[in-house]
Amino acid sequence: MASIGWVLLLFIAELSALATSGAHGDGNFTLRCQPDQAASLLQLKKSFSFFHYPSALESWQDGTDCCLWEGVGCSNSSGHVTALELSGHGLYSQGINPAIFNLTSLQLLDLSMNYFGEYSLLQFRFERLPLLTHLNLSHLGFQGQIPTGIGGLTNLISLDLSANYDLGDVSTYDIITGDRNNVLYLQDPNFKILVANLNNLRELYLDGVDMSSSGEWCHALAKSLPRLQVLSLSYCKLVGPICPSLSNLHSLTVINLEGNFGIPTALAPFPEFFMDFLNLSVLRLAATNLQGWFPRRTFQSKTLRVLDLSWNQDLSGPLPNFSNTSSLETMMLDGASFSFGKPGSFTNFKYLQTLSLDVNISSVEPQSSLGIHRSLRHLGLTQTDSTSNLGLILSGIGDVQNLQSLELSDWRFSLTSFSSLVKLKSLRRLSITRCTFTRSTLSTFGNLVGLRSLEVSDCDFNGPIPSAIGNLTNLKSLNIDNCDFLGPIPSSIGKLMNLRSLEIF
Ligand SMILES: *[C@@H]1O[C@H](CO)[C@@H](O)[C@H](O)[C@H]1NC(C)=O
Ligand SMILES: *[C@@H]1O[C@H](CO)[C@@H](O)[C@H](O)[C@H]1NC(C)=O
Ligand SMILES: *[C@@H]1O[C@H](CO)[C@@H](O)[C@H](O)[C@H]1NC(C)=O
Ligand SMILES: *[C@@H]1O[C@H](CO)[C@@H](O)[C@H](O)[C@H]1NC(C)=O
Ligand SMILES: *[C@@H]1O[C@H](CO)[C@@H](O)[C@H](O)[C@H]1NC(C)=O
Ligand SMILES: *[C@@H]1O[C@H](CO)[C@@H](O)[C@H](O)[C@H]1NC(C)=O
Ligand SMILES: *[C@@H]1O[C@H](CO)[C@@H](O)[C@H](O)[C@H]1NC(C)=O
Ligand SMILES: *[C@@H]1O[C@H](CO)[C@@H](O)[C@H](O)[C@H]1NC(C)=O
Ligand SMILES: *[C@@H]1O[C@H](CO)[C@@H](O)[C@H](O)[C@H]1NC(C)=O
Repeated sequence: MASIGWVLLLFIAELSALATSGAHGDGNFTLRCQPDQAASLLQLKKSFSFFHYPSALESWQDGTDCCLWEGVGCSNSSGHVTALELSGHGLYSQGINPAIFNLTSLQLLDLSMNYFGEYSLLQFRFERLPLLTHLNLSHLGFQGQIPTGIGGLTNLISLDLSANYDLGDVSTYDIITGDRNNVLYLQDPNFKILVANLNNLRELYLDGVDMSSSGEWCHALAKSLPRLQVLSLSYCKLVGPICPSLSNLHSLTVINLEGNFGIPTALAPFPEFFMDFLNLSVLRLAATNLQGWFPRRTFQSKTLRVLDLSWNQDLSGPLPNFSNTSSLETMMLDGASFSFGKPGSFTNFKYLQTLSLDVNISSVEPQSSLGIHRSLRHLGLTQTDSTSNLGLILSGIGDVQNLQSLELSDWRFSLTSFSSLVKLKSLRRLSITRCTFTRSTLSTFGNLVGLRSLEVSDCDFNGPIPSAIGNLTNLKSLNIDNCDFLGPIPSSIGKLMNLRSLEIF
């Protein structure tokens, strides 16, 4: 991660140096920008409609030095445009105007987060931009086949064609079924052909691109992209397993293969060699159909911050193990069958902020396991057997005075177990799914006065909504869904003056 950071920093420093140097200062103002470059940019501007930012690209005026225009960077010496960074400018366009492909000195092109219509990329002449090192066309609304021309950009260091649909709304159902509406795809060329000559690539983001026709994705990666540091292929409908030769890519810092259900069931153990990657900082393998026993080994990377193995229902074993200097911040293991193992196995996290787990009391030693995580901010606990005692576990995390967000699924609450929630003074968000409550529990709801957000869904209350809810005056959002509440909605809800969103189904 550090090295990518440096590359970017140097790059940005260089760009700003380019932008500020040259044109003025000596009292002898000369246009640095080449006229043909300015003409192309102005033609490009003409092709945009500006939706949300009417003042966008205001500095792009004929007769002024285009090297000083917003989002434009030039080469010092030649006055050619080398960088175009228009990410998130509220631009609307019907495809990419051909004028861009006259800026043949471009090294960086970032058009991400605008709307360029549901166009095919095939008609665009990427081969005219052979100097490109950074290409970002993510979140633009493109459709169809990814063109061969991109595979010819042999200087590329970073390529991002991800998420040409809205990833913001992925439900658990989508994650598990892999049933997504991918709009960009790699068929002809397939992935192997696309990356065959991209040997300089350090960062590759193709999230949401349909790669189901690229059975050799893994070998192609290992063979063609030896310098890769960031690999992000979530929701790509990958087929074929994570292959052993991927272990060659030991410079990887980010691996995201989430939501690829097609990785075949018979041959998908957890790829143990990932544990040997010394610079690994993010490992996301949620819903990749991993199976079998998680290795009883320690992650070698001291910089691992995020580990997500959730929704691999047939993955079981001891909790992942880390060195005592671990910098782990997020660990998601829900929807898989990890067991807590021996007491103390959980003591190595100084920085853990987010944890989600399925809890099976038969294999939990709660106090010794969870008690010390003062750094925790977000906790999700799903009960998987009928005997787990939330109270016991929460009394263990009672020390977690910084806990802000708690998600509980499948618990049976008694008065005592629910009372332990009330002790979590910093709790701002509580989400309760498929839980049952005894009658006496309901009145204690009124003590969760710090809550900003309360979501209760698929719980069986079989009684009225407790009027004590009117005590939660800090609530901004209240969502009650499918809970078999009976009787009238209590008038005390009218006391919730800060409420911005109220949904009761
Ligand atoms: C401005 O540039 C012109 C032509 O490049 C040159 O002849 C002139 O001496 C310069 N003036 C100053 C003040 O540098
Ligand atoms: C782009 O280049 C082509 C030929 O290379 C030329 O005909 C066209 O006018 C150029 N367009 C702009 C906007 O410069
Ligand atoms: C850009 O110009 C500055 C001075 O204006 C010079 O120091 C620098 O070396 C030049 N960079 C390149 C890449 O030509
Ligand atoms: C591409 O742009 C998106 C949106 O601006 C950004 O989040 C992403 O980090 C960029 N990709 C790369 C590789 O920099
Ligand atoms: C890990 O990162 C360090 C520092 O950026 C770098 O020197 C080293 O080569 C990297 N190791 C691997 C295996 O890429
Ligand atoms: C977990 O890691 C610690 C420290 O790295 C080590 O002492 C311990 O033996 C490991 N436990 C297992 C089960 O691998
Ligand atoms: C981590 O473990 C090593 C030996 O396994 C030990 O020497 C070191 O003191 C421990 N560090 C901390 C911070 O506990
Ligand atoms: C709970 O853990 C016990 C002991 O490890 C195991 O036998 C049982 O199958 C687990 N129950 C569930 C629902 O996972
Ligand atoms: C409302 O909250 C206060 C603490 O702020 C508590 O003393 C009181 O019992 C609560 N009332 C109800 C009806 O829950």
